Amino acid sequence: MSAFDAVELIRRKRSGAELTSDQIDWLIPAYTRGEVADEQMSAMAMAIFFRGMADSELSTWTTAMINTGERLDFSGLSRPTADKHSTGGVGDKITLPLAPLVAACGVAVPQLSGRGLGHTGGTLDKLESIPGWRASLTNDEMMRQLADVGAVICAAGSGLAPADKKLYALRDVTGTVEAIPLIASSIMSKKIAEGTDSLVLDVKVGVGAFMQTLDQARELASRMVALGKAAGVTTVALLTDMDTPLGRAAGNAVEVAESVEVLAGGGPTDVVDLTLALAREMVQSAGVDIDPADKLADGSAMDVWRRMIRAQGGDPEAALPQARHQEVVLADQSGVLTRLDAMAVGLAAWRLGAGRARKEDPVQTGAGVMMHAKPGDAVTAGQPLFTLLTDTPETFDRAKQALEGGWTIEASGSFEGRPLVIERIS
Ligand code: URA
Repeated sequence: MSAFDAVELIRRKRSGAELTSDQIDWLIPAYTRGEVADEQMSAMAMAIFFRGMADSELSTWTTAMINTGERLDFSGLSRPTADKHSTGGVGDKITLPLAPLVAACGVAVPQLSGRGLGHTGGTLDKLESIPGWRASLTNDEMMRQLADVGAVICAAGSGLAPADKKLYALRDVTGTVEAIPLIASSIMSKKIAEGTDSLVLDVKVGVGAFMQTLDQARELASRMVALGKAAGVTTVALLTDMDTPLGRAAGNAVEVAESVEVLAGGGPTDVVDLTLALAREMVQSAGVDIDPADKLADGSAMDVWRRMIRAQGGDPEAALPQARHQEVVLADQSGVLTRLDAMAVGLAAWRLGAGRARKEDPVQTGAGVMMHAKPGDAVTAGQPLFTLLTDTPETFDRAKQALEGGWTIEASGSFEGRPLVIERIS
């Protein structure tokens, strides 16, 4: 006889009542062990989608997810640890320059990352375009690299919050990904289990993000910050713009190349600005008094990048893979580019082969979209707006369809975008 009845709990949540701590502490491990069926947990996720969760329920739910797996412990390291999590966007390669930059400031960065699904790219997919680089490390390898190099970007092992792995896969196929308490508990269970001292959340807002409105992004950010603080992790969130893609490259190898430009002191302004804004938060949360801009300028961040890539078998000097085919999309009129839709660019890159439709699918390392103009730039009719890159030229038409209506050029327009960092929540 089990302590509770899953159907009873689903009915309770469906009616808008709160689940008790005992009920949640039974439900999550029972689901992880397979004693509560997928269809029951799907119904529960849908009930939560419509009814939400009170703060106390969310806190118990997150702790119960953490308790289904192991917790990493970095307390043996001589430096403080800080991590960053982005809720995902188009052209979001920030982790790549950020981790070595923060490590160059003396803060250890254990960055457990994921692969892309849908129109947003995944950090591991991008890094895997570097010849020889491997994403899977044992916990011991990770600790050694953190001690020696100061930064590691690798795949989260299966031991961290296994309840989330199962529940996230279920949400993905039941239309329940977008529930704020489920997103908050999913992200924070992994980050708290990872054992970082401090955490900076980059909560994306806009057409290319999970959270399309500022109100939704604020709620997600506040709930995640509260969960982090309650678990003893210094947590702050920046709400940042994802109406337009970050940088000028969306894809895998092309985003690595852009990140290396940033580490070399160049790169697009928005990528540099967001990298520095997040680095300052991480360094400050870790109690270190160094301006990351100095470590970018003096080349120390680039040194850490090279060591970090080599430590994981990669060759930082090797040529990056290039797509075998390219096609250029031209500006249809002259004027000022006033809108470049992140979702359109993300979908185009995905259709060209940079992303995957199912978890098991491979990605093309060279595929993606290069953007030759960003909002605010003057353009002339007939000039290249995008270069589409792929190994599978039959995807060009569908990629161009994704881009249709994805930009606006105004003959005499001016561009007043919102700031890249919209709000800070702590
Ligand atoms: N990323 C996660 O890890 N979990 C979610 O629920 C959404 C985004």
